[in-house]
Amino acid sequence: MSDFRNSTVYQIYVKSFCDSNGDGIGDLNGIRSKLPYLKNLGVDYVWLTPFFRSPMNDNGYDVADYYSVNPMFGTMDDADAMIREANELGLGLMFDMVFNHTSTEHEWFKKALAGDPTYMDYYIWKDPVNRDADGHILTPTDSDRDSDRAATGSANTASGLDTNVSESAKTASNLEMSTGSTSSAQPSDQIPAPAPNASPEEIRAFAASHVPTNWVSKFGGSAWEYVPAFNKYYLHLFDKTQADLNWENPRVREELKNVIRFWKAKGLKGFRFDVVNLISKPAVFEDDFEGDGRRFYTDGRHVHEFLRELAEDTGIADMMTVGEMSSTSLANCIRYANPASHELKMVFSFHHLKVDYKNGQKWELMAPDFRKLRELFTEWQEGMEKGGAWNAVFWNNHDQPRANSRFGDVTHYWKESSKMLATLIHLMRGTPYIYEGEEIGMTNAGFTSIDQYRDVESINYYRILTNEGKSPEEALHIIGERSRDNGRTPMQWTAGRYAGFMPDDAKHEPWIGIPDNKDHINVAVESHDSASILSYYKKLIRLRKEYEIIADGSIRFTDPENENIISYVRELGGRKLHVFCNLRGAEEPLLANAGGFDATGMQRLIDSIEDETCAGRSDGTAGNDGADAASGAKDSTDAVLLTKLRPYEAVALLEEN
Ligand code: NOJ
Repeated sequence: MSDFRNSTVYQIYVKSFCDSNGDGIGDLNGIRSKLPYLKNLGVDYVWLTPFFRSPMNDNGYDVADYYSVNPMFGTMDDADAMIREANELGLGLMFDMVFNHTSTEHEWFKKALAGDPTYMDYYIWKDPVNRDADGHILTPTDSDRDSDRAATGSANTASGLDTNVSESAKTASNLEMSTGSTSSAQPSDQIPAPAPNASPEEIRAFAASHVPTNWVSKFGGSAWEYVPAFNKYYLHLFDKTQADLNWENPRVREELKNVIRFWKAKGLKGFRFDVVNLISKPAVFEDDFEGDGRRFYTDGRHVHEFLRELAEDTGIADMMTVGEMSSTSLANCIRYANPASHELKMVFSFHHLKVDYKNGQKWELMAPDFRKLRELFTEWQEGMEKGGAWNAVFWNNHDQPRANSRFGDVTHYWKESSKMLATLIHLMRGTPYIYEGEEIGMTNAGFTSIDQYRDVESINYYRILTNEGKSPEEALHIIGERSRDNGRTPMQWTAGRYAGFMPDDAKHEPWIGIPDNKDHINVAVESHDSASILSYYKKLIRLRKEYEIIADGSIRFTDPENENIISYVRELGGRKLHVFCNLRGAEEPLLANAGGFDATGMQRLIDSIEDETCAGRSDGTAGNDGADAASGAKDSTDAVLLTKLRPYEAVALLEEN
């Protein structure tokens, strides 16, 4: 397997990639059938989103059994065959390890709910606290008394619990299952649970007014779910069916290491770790008066030692590993992804994907702030290099709207802006990740009704936004821009009835709608077009392998005042690669103060505007030599002064010493 620095990773959202059996849901055999496509694209690694047994409340990020394949995606035999075939093709598979939480359907959680102390200690439980009408805590929180049994890992979580409680102790939001509460075994200083004959409404009201902290779940609402039978809450930073694991408990860490060992033994080449910087919770749980609680549990106190232990004990230190880092800091990422730390090979951070969040709020829209974007790229690219750490670089994934719809102009400059964005990322310092469909310029879904959405977060927020007073149209507009479902529509392979995602004669409909633009945005059309977005991605992937400077060069951002063009220079052994990307749909002057950029003698490695239209540029700059854009041939510029870039043009010029 190639070095990860000159490699490219392709991400598959399993549910949406290829459906081999026509049930409307992508599957492992569908992926097997497309491995040659991925080989031909030129990528080295393929990351698959979780396909393990799951109730699918969060599309597989709610794992009920790490050791089995969800029947909707196939069988273990299919998984084994997929791994074998990928390895034969030289494609390294990476599986997605969701270790911050499990589904509440996981047997560990079921045993916890049955009152088994061993398994209760796999999760994070807190007692109710008294609050006044404004939500302020009236009595000391249980955090001192309880001092975070999650923190010690050795405290007997069962203390104070009646281990004979009903087999399925019920949560406050599932009270139709049971209203029984068990108060017999409460410690004397614990706030009493509602009376055994309390109504579901009374229990819900109690649960809402006694939350252990005011933390907000990433999917909206409180991060705590009340279990009347225990008179305790469990923590869920995501959906209430995704209970946070107690990593302070060494048994939990061992369980998770075993999961890695199991899949590694099957021949995987790497792992992606879901929200892995959230795994270490604080010693004391307290209200957050400045935010939603994330500052207390993000990049937590033991996260680095936990990751190091995980990597060392499972022998994955030399494999391809990437951690997804939620709301993280540069200093922490330098530690996560510095070889000396022995934690991870690289990290995903998301700050650059918040430059269109008004007031930092995902559900408030504004035009992208490109100045901020440049600042963030500068800080992270240069900062990670200084810290000796490595980035994963990307625009898209299954949690993001499509970058071309967001930062480009898919109406007037679909091809140009998609190619420009690709260039900006692929020539940076870091390993590029391509999300399925990005390589053909797939766009946002264009859904017009809330009924078309499937994502738990989008549906929750539609309700929250309308409850806050937004009209259904306004809420739908916001969801239309921000929903994760924008990136989850089926892969567009052909212009066929179901875009080639599933057989044309399938008896079922796809699990989520297919955008109409499948008719012209699809693999079949673009495979035969040397000027297509697909051909352009192939070229970028190839260039990273051919030019060491792309994989290994240093990076410095240039022309910092320019609001419209992001530019940087890579440097290695006296060679320089100058990259200029026009973020606007208008011609933009280049280095106007200096009269332009002197490109004399430089080689144009790539230009996002098709070669044939590059000739005879209006600004007098020489076009390239007319070589086929997709051939990988090196173009040479004999001319001299680059004075402007055309709308959404990206160009990379190689300067030999
Ligand atoms: C990050 C994943 O990418 C996202 O899809 C998921 O909802 C959350 N983590 C929770 O697992």
